[in-house]
Amino acid sequence: MPIRVISSTAELHEYTRGRLRAGQSLALVPTMGFLHDGHTSLMREGVRRADVVAASIFVNPTQFGPKEDLSTYPKDRDGDLAKCEAAGVSVAFLPDAHAVYPPGFQTYVNVEKASQGLCGDRRPGHFRGVATVVTKLFTLFRPEVALFGEKDFQQLCVIRALAKDLDLGVDVVGMPTVREADGLAKSSRNSYLSADERQRAVAISRGLFAAQAAFVSGTTRAESLLELVRAQLRAAAIREDYVELRDEATLEPLVQIVAGQRARLFVAGFLGKTRLIDNVRVG
Ligand code: PAF
Repeated sequence: MPIRVISSTAELHEYTRGRLRAGQSLALVPTMGFLHDGHTSLMREGVRRADVVAASIFVNPTQFGPKEDLSTYPKDRDGDLAKCEAAGVSVAFLPDAHAVYPPGFQTYVNVEKASQGLCGDRRPGHFRGVATVVTKLFTLFRPEVALFGEKDFQQLCVIRALAKDLDLGVDVVGMPTVREADGLAKSSRNSYLSADERQRAVAISRGLFAAQAAFVSGTTRAESLLELVRAQLRAAAIREDYVELRDEATLEPLVQIVAGQRARLFVAGFLGKTRLIDNVRVG
């Protein structure tokens, strides 16, 4: 069956009612489009976990700051729909901004703790926009499972928290970051990079992997691990936005990894105007 494209919330409600009546479980993959292998890996996992897989493709204006790339965010409607279909998606939701935020819209979701620090501090209002649109998508689709990439690890924590706190009954699944052959995390924003920036961008994952290897060899102090990442950023002339070591479960900043602790190293950096993020588990 060809993919069904829905653009209005009324049609989506009708679809959801029919699906629930038919007793089919649904896996949802929310995206902002310009899909890459990271997104399609989520869709394929959805196929394994539910009867039907749906994707949303919506560049959500409320998660962009006034000086961010909302107007230039890359788009490829037809290519995205072809990728969705090939990955087993049967329903795609492509609303316009008015369908999601009709005139008079005034209800926002704020996940207090998980939204603090890291991208939450650097991009004020970002996670409020993410939490609001994801809550709305969960309400419209009523999925049993929803899949997100670990590249946006703080986002994953925010979404897990809102699903739990609001009792939305959805299993929020985080999937490993998909990387290019040289280690760069796949991201729609990689398309902004010039050839030179693309070559330098690999320093982000190189730094994270160097720190991971140092941890395996016994380095546990944050200062030393962070310096390994920063050295790579400096060598590639990547402007640091943040480099931090945090506990994986609480996102609390760490000065040292203690035995048995799961920690994550988080990086955000600028190549020209392009801001890239990445993270890896250590411990
Ligand atoms: O990760 C993204 O692409 C977006 O933040 C999301 C989760 C689709 C919400 O707009």
